[in-house]
Amino acid sequence: MRQRLVVGNWKMHTTLSEALILATSLRNSISEVGGVRVVLCPPFPWIVPVAEILTHRPSHLKLGAQDAYYKEEGAVTGAVSAAMLRGIVDYVIVGHSERRRIFKESSTLVNEKVHAVIKQGMTAILAVGELTRVHHQEKRHHGRPTRTEARSDITTQLEEGLEGISKKEVGQIAIAYEPVWAVGTGQAADGVYANHIAELIRKWLTRRFGASLAGEIPILYGGSVTSENVEEFSGQPELDGVLAGGSSLKAKEFTALCHAFAR
Ligand code: PGA
Repeated sequence: MRQRLVVGNWKMHTTLSEALILATSLRNSISEVGGVRVVLCPPFPWIVPVAEILTHRPSHLKLGAQDAYYKEEGAVTGAVSAAMLRGIVDYVIVGHSERRRIFKESSTLVNEKVHAVIKQGMTAILAVGELTRVHHQEKRHHGRPTRTEARSDITTQLEEGLEGISKKEVGQIAIAYEPVWAVGTGQAADGVYANHIAELIRKWLTRRFGASLAGEIPILYGGSVTSENVEEFSGQPELDGVLAGGSSLKAKEFTALCHAFAR
């Protein structure tokens, strides 16, 4: 059975004390939630203190990083390598739209990061998604892309992001479908549409790795998920979890997302 995953991306939020308070409340509330793996991705400097406060955490509560550089070490000011994160986190988000947009990360760099994360024994959560909200008809409308165009953006990001990944490495991959127009905007995609794209991703993964391996890769939805709309996504057969930004900063709200995916 595919792993269910709920990921909290704290982005560049929280002070150290806020991070420790949030992690402590989540350690308690998440212990009650079964059948889903929960990954907290604090800002880099809080990862170790959060790990310390979570020493006695339930085994389904994991730590992740929001990014990692692919070179192991060297003169790369400001970067944190996947090699440095080994043993501290189990998951790393790679290719988030904010990294692609603000830091101009290319798909080649994203691919190098996926390889580095896997090589260091962690799981890469590869984020993919179209830039603008699609038009529901197969005709361009006010410059909005069609579904076919959105689909081709996503398959290109998959092809480039997973280039050179072998069948043996498939167990260290999760895909987060995050339409860029839905991230941080308060305008989530609707569940049926997100499931439709997840199906398309699964088909692509099946062509690439074969049905049985592709069937094991968790596919998450991300973009303005809240406790109010999470059922839209948890009720979809192809969605195995969510990646939440804003909603991951409030313990009660984030716990509600985890409950929605609990078995
Ligand atoms: P959001 O962010 O939940 O605040 O929209 C999601 C993400 O960036 O992963």
